[in-house]
Amino acid sequence: MKLLAFAASNSSTSINKQLVTYATTLVQAKQTRILDLNDYELPLYSEDKNKMLGEPELAKEFLAQIAWCDVLMISFAEHNLSYSVAYKNIFDWASRINPKVFQNKPLILMATSPGQRGGLSVLQTAIHTAPFFKGVVKGSFSLPNFYENFDVKQGCITHEAKKEELIQTLQTLA
Ligand SMILES: Cc1cc2nc3c(=O)[nH]c(=O)nc-3n(C[C@H](O)[C@H](O)[C@H](O)COP(=O)(O)O)c2cc1C
Repeated sequence: MKLLAFAASNSSTSINKQLVTYATTLVQAKQTRILDLNDYELPLYSEDKNKMLGEPELAKEFLAQIAWCDVLMISFAEHNLSYSVAYKNIFDWASRINPKVFQNKPLILMATSPGQRGGLSVLQTAIHTAPFFKGVVKGSFSLPNFYENFDVKQGCITHEAKKEELIQTLQTLA
């Protein structure tokens, strides 16, 4: 299985990147790639810029990475109950090239935040909208209170029940 993972965040200290990186270690994959959305930064999407720039190479590359994988894992940063600008921007550019951004790939969707809702709002949006972009949601997981439930130094979940829940969620890929 070729596994592609990324955090829908452009923070250099992204807690979602830490979570999704940990999740990749729980899956037996032949190859794993972890993307950084900072490598896919494009001008703020507008139809005018779209006319000027056409189909940017970075947006094509983003779609090509998704095309490469057998399974896609995303962990979403929640900004004001919704997507981070970094994710929405590359997604918008990519969707103008191929509206089926997720290309029928199985998805594991996650979110975490320092708060007690664990990014549940953005996660629910991602789950409900994925089929419109030809994403096949296989499982979802939210980790609340990140700094209480994740050991940043060890890079793993410390809350036993949440750890087990994530392992069970990932079983859907087997
Ligand atoms: C503009 C902004 C809006 C935010 N809104 C929310 C929110 O709605 N819900 C939440 O739980 N956390 C919110 N946060 C806190 C983020 O969850 C926190 O910054 C987290 O580290 C983001 O994930 P990341 O580290 O993977 O980028 C917000 C942070 C920023 C900068």
